[in-house]
Amino acid sequence: MAAAEDKDGNRRLVFLGAPGSGKGTQAQLLAEHLRVPAISTGEMLRAAKAAGTPLGRRVGEIMQKGLLVDDDTMADVVRDRLSQDDARQGFILDGYPRTAVQVETLEELLHELGTEIDAVVTLHVDEEELLQRALARNRQDDTEEIIRERLAVYHRQTEPLVAHYRQAGKLVEVDGMGTVGEVARRLTEALAR
Ligand code: AP5
Repeated sequence: MAAAEDKDGNRRLVFLGAPGSGKGTQAQLLAEHLRVPAISTGEMLRAAKAAGTPLGRRVGEIMQKGLLVDDDTMADVVRDRLSQDDARQGFILDGYPRTAVQVETLEELLHELGTEIDAVVTLHVDEEELLQRALARNRQDDTEEIIRERLAVYHRQTEPLVAHYRQAGKLVEVDGMGTVGEVARRLTEALAR
């Protein structure tokens, strides 16, 4: 059966946003609707860590400090995942790219695969709400100190990518405050514009 598609054919999306902004939640919902895989690099690394793989052992401490895993490691992770069959008809990348080098790697990788990103979604959420959402979740890297470090890393290394994608005409900005349903509705409307 043909996969669903939104009105404008957005099937290759990136979700870019601060920790706790709800990108994982919204990426999952939209991926189900579009019938494409939601690819969360954070989830993939946590799974590797839980399974005790060589990758998991290498990245565990870095994640626990709220820092970013190095770009070369992330390039391998994303290349492997995007090359899998289920990503051929589309995907939602949640949490990648996060650095200027990762932007270039993704562009190269998609070029090799003969495709490109349709849109980059960013969710805007107040800083206090970000903290409260993450603290309410109780993940291993969700202590206040680590969340604040992840936020600082986001502002330093990832936020500048928003301007890059805006300039490229790919950015879709969505108000991420309110309930999950409200944000999902705004997101669908914004992508249809
Ligand atoms: P990652 O898992 O990507 O963590 P993050 O960016 O810190 O994002 P979060 O998962 O905290 O938040 P989210 O925006 O996805 O929000 P969510 O939907 O979960 O990465 C973890 C680590 O992996 C990184 O720190 C780094 O070390 C490493 N890593 C990953 N990718 C990397 C890369 N590309 N390069 C280098 N290193 C990388 O929502 C948060 C909570 O809020 C949930 O409990 C949810 O239920 C709730 N919630 C969601 N929406 C709402 C709403 N509207 N109202 C109320 N609650 C809500």
